[in-house]
Amino acid sequence: MTAAILTNNLTKQYGTLTALGNLDLQVRQGSIFGLLGPNGAGKTTLIRILTTLMRQSSGEAFIEGNDTRSRGRDIRCLIGVVPQENSLDRYLTARENLELHARLHKMDAARYRQRIDELMELMGLAGRQHDFPDTFSGGMQRRLVVARALVHQPRVLFLDEPTTGLDPQSRRSVWEYIRSIAGSMTIFLTTHYLEEAELLCDRIAIMDHGRLIAQGTTQELKARLSGDTLYEIEFDGETERYAALLKNMACIRSITVKGAVVNVGLEHWECLSEVVSALNGAPVRRISLRERTLEEVFISLTGAGVRQ
Ligand SMILES: Nc1ncnc2c1ncn2[C@@H]1O[C@H](COP(=O)(O)OP(=O)(O)O)[C@@H](O)[C@H]1O
Ligand SMILES: [Mg+2]
Repeated sequence: MTAAILTNNLTKQYGTLTALGNLDLQVRQGSIFGLLGPNGAGKTTLIRILTTLMRQSSGEAFIEGNDTRSRGRDIRCLIGVVPQENSLDRYLTARENLELHARLHKMDAARYRQRIDELMELMGLAGRQHDFPDTFSGGMQRRLVVARALVHQPRVLFLDEPTTGLDPQSRRSVWEYIRSIAGSMTIFLTTHYLEEAELLCDRIAIMDHGRLIAQGTTQELKARLSGDTLYEIEFDGETERYAALLKNMACIRSITVKGAVVNVGLEHWECLSEVVSALNGAPVRRISLRERTLEEVFISLTGAGVRQ
């Protein structure tokens, strides 16, 4: 099957700045792919090239087999785009914004009327469709832009930071709507929220400074960290003494102490029995396995927190 999105050695220079460097990416049809990276990583630049708004400096990109350099018109029929900034027409009502988009895509009225009715319903906006976007909350505006991107039934939907700047409740509602449309098309989204990528995406790529630094399923990315097994040991006193004892054990790769809790990273999970024997007689309250969050994976891969 043709990949929904394919890039080979894709590079974009802004003067001397390499915003994208030799990017190789493949997105399967029908999947939800998350591109994760801090501000300035190159996410929007990539989306602009894939959606034919901008030319790459070198390398190739294909949308369902169509070259972005020569098949722009075909690609623009195939895709829906939710840009980072909302770009709604504030002098048109919500419904008129969608109608304008439908007409730009040369849909006939009978077809787009029904389609817009369905989308307004799907995005929970039916009751507000004759109001102006300025009167909408951030989450509603975002849903309206998603609805607009779906009017002409695209096969590939691009969402550039769909929930940045939204309050937690609106983010959740946008997630629900994204999930409700998943499966019927390929979805490519960018985000700097790890939680969002983890929740929505089948596969995730992490980029920083224009380069891909990791790619895989959430599970695979978590497993890529060194010191795979992390345990949390909570003491009821004598924490420092036992932490010092654990620090000297060969099978313990990393150790951090926070109050009464000691986090240890083990070489293999089998080492746990050694640790437990070493703690014989110690006032241990709890030992629990700790799964790494994607946030930790991200920081360990990019070497820093998310830049604002
Ligand atoms: N039109 C432009 N001209 C010059 N530099 C740009 C332009 N657009 C983006 N950049 C720079 O390219 C890098 C990547 O930006 P961008 O693709 O917007 O990243 P992201 O969307 O991940 O925040 C940043 O360093 C940014 O300042
Ligand atoms: Mg961006």
